[in-house]
Amino acid sequence: MLATKLNVAFYGHVRQYHNIQAEIDANIHEVLESGQYVLGPMLKRFEKELAEFHGTRHAIGVGNGTDALWLAFKALGIGPGDECITTTNTFFATAEAIWTAGATVVFVDSDARTNCIDPTKIEAAITARTRALVPVHLYGQCADMKAIRKIADKHNLRVIEDNAQAIGAHGDGFRIAELSDAATVSFIIQKNLGTFGDGGAVVTNDPEVDRVVRKLRNHGSDKRSCHSPGYNSRLDDLHAGILSAKLKHIDEWSDLRIKWARRYRKGLAAARNIVLPFETPGYRHVYHLYVVETRRAELRDRLLDFLNGEGIDAKCHYPIAIHQQEGYPWGRQARIAGPIPNSERNAACCISLPMFPELTDEEADYTIDRVLDWDKRVR
Ligand SMILES: Cc1ncc(COP(=O)(O)O)c(C=O)c1O
Repeated sequence: MLATKLNVAFYGHVRQYHNIQAEIDANIHEVLESGQYVLGPMLKRFEKELAEFHGTRHAIGVGNGTDALWLAFKALGIGPGDECITTTNTFFATAEAIWTAGATVVFVDSDARTNCIDPTKIEAAITARTRALVPVHLYGQCADMKAIRKIADKHNLRVIEDNAQAIGAHGDGFRIAELSDAATVSFIIQKNLGTFGDGGAVVTNDPEVDRVVRKLRNHGSDKRSCHSPGYNSRLDDLHAGILSAKLKHIDEWSDLRIKWARRYRKGLAAARNIVLPFETPGYRHVYHLYVVETRRAELRDRLLDFLNGEGIDAKCHYPIAIHQQEGYPWGRQARIAGPIPNSERNAACCISLPMFPELTDEEADYTIDRVLDWDKRVR
């Protein structure tokens, strides 16, 4: 056992800010001095950089990752009477956005190892009303987009990637937003590319999605004083400036996350009571979260309480799956297609260990040591 008790935080936002403070401050200063804070030049610059980063033709900054999803759905004509297939072991916003667009959520099971949507479960859930597949790149690893694309082509479906969690990831020979109609990004502070508040974006190669989302986010206006019904959901220039400074570091930060994941994997290899995250061969997993699962559901809260008591701010993502939330489905249209044992196991057994680029050796090793100590004593 290591001698001293440490406090290990779950996030490193302030450390990250201090590491690149001059770059962030310079961009904030530039926006403040520009006199243009909404739909200004900094947003334009960041949208260009974000599209280049993804290799897409377009990127549109919006208010948050949830709006990005339902604005993309609306731009693709998805609404009442349509069904969208996704998973229940995701952040609530995935389903919420489908409902906001007026469509029906259909849940299928996730893959036992990746926890992303299981493509082999999709076709049985397709009906005449199915319009879209909404895979979530959960915890930082892409869903199997090649299989998803094949199904979408066969059934003439739209694909919208919920990429709130995996910016900078890729699959075996595909990039995010390459095999879909659109991908959405969240910039809330805790994401791998996070601003000091809320933000989001849609990235797409489809000029019509670009045109419609741009218009909808700005009160249905693409020309001064001319409107049709829309919304107010723009990414502010101050956030765009912060994100522009941070985007230059995202690959190096992903590499650091991968480094900590390797350290956890090596250090925790002997643990008998937890399952470590699975990396699909050939994929770049960018470890938005480092999620282990206890082998038995009743061990999860025991491990969580133990780590919290040892000063380690471990959390759960997401312990109550969407269909298990109180009041579900709140009068909204929803359907669970087939049994979903993997999604339910993921919800019951998941624990996220501290994972952020600015972790230290000491913090990672202390976390490993404490998990192993707990593991040794499990009966
Ligand atoms: C998978 C997933 N989808 C959607 C969202 C929604 O993003 P936001 O919080 O920016 O609205 C998040 C994160 O919050 C998320 O993790």
